[in-house]
Amino acid sequence: MVFTASDIAIRQRPSSKLSTVNWAQLMFGRTFTDHMFCADFIDGQWTDFRIEPYGNISIEPSLSALHYGQSIFEGLKAFRGVDNRVRIFRPEMNAKRLNASARRMCMAELPESVFLEGLRALLKVDSDWVHGEPGYSLYLRPFLFATETYLGIKPSDSYRFMIIASPVGAYYEGRIRVRVEQEYSRASAGGTGTAKAAGNYAASLYPALLGQKEGYRQLIWTDSATHTQIEESGTMNLFIVHNGTLMTPPLDSNTILAGVTRDSILALSRRRGWETKEETISVDFLASGLADGTITEVFGTGTAATIAFIECIGINGTDYSLSDLGIESKGAQLAAELYSIKMGENPDEFGWNWNL
Ligand SMILES: Cc1ncc(COP(=O)(O)O)c(C=O)c1O
Repeated sequence: MVFTASDIAIRQRPSSKLSTVNWAQLMFGRTFTDHMFCADFIDGQWTDFRIEPYGNISIEPSLSALHYGQSIFEGLKAFRGVDNRVRIFRPEMNAKRLNASARRMCMAELPESVFLEGLRALLKVDSDWVHGEPGYSLYLRPFLFATETYLGIKPSDSYRFMIIASPVGAYYEGRIRVRVEQEYSRASAGGTGTAKAAGNYAASLYPALLGQKEGYRQLIWTDSATHTQIEESGTMNLFIVHNGTLMTPPLDSNTILAGVTRDSILALSRRRGWETKEETISVDFLASGLADGTITEVFGTGTAATIAFIECIGINGTDYSLSDLGIESKGAQLAAELYSIKMGENPDEFGWNWNL
């Protein structure tokens, strides 16, 4: 299928809601731009590519996504750079990951060109929503769900792909407290942990709530079989700095989501010539390194916050604290470098930015 921007029908909202936005008090994921991109998979092919005013969609109660969970999503951001140009960060990675999720969940794959041109078309009509102040961005949420109206359990024969967009502000919630989870699991071998499947997030809510009641903002997930190996932190990939080496668990367990930020941080660290390893991190290694001070930094990486610095980790009833190394830390240096690439300040040597 050769798909181009001219295949997208544009139905614009008569007037913009932009002037009603309170930019100083934006809450993540609560405000949406004027438009959304939609496409449908019907009779074995993608069709009806369109930009519509953001708004309600009509569904039947028997919609199979609601009952059997064929529902996947992506998350990425657009930035208005120092030169006033709008850029999207590495969208082709998200297009590929959406299709990897679709394969695992037995859903129709989407041509990458539809994903990318859909993003471009949406950003064109809503480009004024990409705020240029430092720290602001436009969060983009592509998602795909089953639309067959049928209560039998089987792969749906129709799907809807949509992209909605939500402006996010320059918030910094500070360093966070996390706890290593050794009872519940986010993902299991042979399961759906590598897919960005909606049900994975539903399954994580209850254990996360228990952790929050104990005063921990997020959980560090461990492997489901033994609960001895570190996997991820909340909805972020996890990094540690041990004796100066940057380390993160490898993806070969097939239980960890392959983060775009993870990949970018690894690339920037290696380019600086810093020792960088994708290596299994056991809970014991983490605990002893925190106790003897050989682990100096622990942080999560993800699109929403880029890097979330961790100040305290609860392991088996003991809280281990980490000193605040501030802007000297490896995590902070990498986060600053990544941010300036996204803003068009630093040269984009890896070709990560997709200019609008
Ligand atoms: C489970 C999980 N791990 C890691 C990540 C980080 O991925 P990315 O850097 O692509 O946002 C996310 C967020 O998408 C996630 O949901």
